Amino acid sequence: DRGSAPDFTAKEIDEQPAAARRLLDGLLGRLQGGQLLEDLGLGAPARIRLVACGTSGHAAEVTARVLAVEGAIPTRVVTASEPDLAVPEPGTLTVAVSQSGETADVLAALDRWGDPVLAITNAPRSSLARRADAVLGLGCGPEVGVAATKTFTAQVVAGVALALAVASGTGRLSAARLAHLEEVLDGLPMRLATTAARAAGPAADLAEELAGEPGVVFVSRGAGVPYAREGALKLEELTYRWVEAVPAGELKHGPIALLGPGTPAVVVAAKPRGRLAVGIAEMTARGARAVVVGPPEDATLPTCAPSEEPPWGPLEAAIALQLFAREMTVRLGHEVDRPRNLAKSVTVE
Ligand code: F6R
Repeated sequence: DRGSAPDFTAKEIDEQPAAARRLLDGLLGRLQGGQLLEDLGLGAPARIRLVACGTSGHAAEVTARVLAVEGAIPTRVVTASEPDLAVPEPGTLTVAVSQSGETADVLAALDRWGDPVLAITNAPRSSLARRADAVLGLGCGPEVGVAATKTFTAQVVAGVALALAVASGTGRLSAARLAHLEEVLDGLPMRLATTAARAAGPAADLAEELAGEPGVVFVSRGAGVPYAREGALKLEELTYRWVEAVPAGELKHGPIALLGPGTPAVVVAAKPRGRLAVGIAEMTARGARAVVVGPPEDATLPTCAPSEEPPWGPLEAAIALQLFAREMTVRLGHEVDRPRNLAKSVTVE
């Protein structure tokens, strides 16, 4: 039941702060010393392999970054349909990230390795959950819109919690830093809600302005890159516009050729400073129209971000970009909840 919401996607975008709150309430306080892993019946891994597709792959990228930055844990993200890129290595924990738990490529990839498997999924009775040795459930409730929204933010929250627990378990992440990061995480639901309120109007205006554009470039740096990719995927799958999403430093190696007068270039930024500012200057020098998603003082699409960028990056930007993609879809007259050619669960390899 979508209640008074115009579509399920709108409803599910709205549900994100509450979903993140529920999940955090179950996870915070269990990270110190790797407690969460113990609760899941898992030992401390020497390395981690994350396997996923699409949006879930972007949540996996965020998780991998937190593992690397906070825990110095060797980590690799494997696109489930390309499993050859990961060879078996002893001491690996495989973390399968899939909201539906039915993605055939993910299930098939798991057959290749003998590792213990932890599933991060919204479907505790799915094929993946049954196959896994342990399950970290998202508890988001059903997601009906084909485009993943609330399950994405929840996957990021669950992945970050897992990463912090692993990092704390190895002793690399100090108790004081963990306590600080837990506090920042605790404020996330509030920031997601504030972002939704702040970005809704500007997202609608921007969608109106850009509805006629054939394509949109998305850039970011560092921890923002998975969110640039996710914003691009959301726009592409819902509006059928071409997108290009790259780290800003890659622009000069090719994608900058796409830019001409007025080309929309979405910049996902905790703070559009340093090398990202150079990227913006490179784009605007070619006439591109920079659309900054970040703190209100710099942004076209304003978010509510913590004062210092956390290792999981500007997660709040995901909501602003979901709102933008949905608004553009409505303007173009496309079906928001059921984009063409796509299925909610991709059960074929
Ligand atoms: C995008 C989207 C897809 C899925 C992908 C994996 O909005 O929904 O890219 O993320 O098909 O699906 P799950 O997470 O069910 O494995």
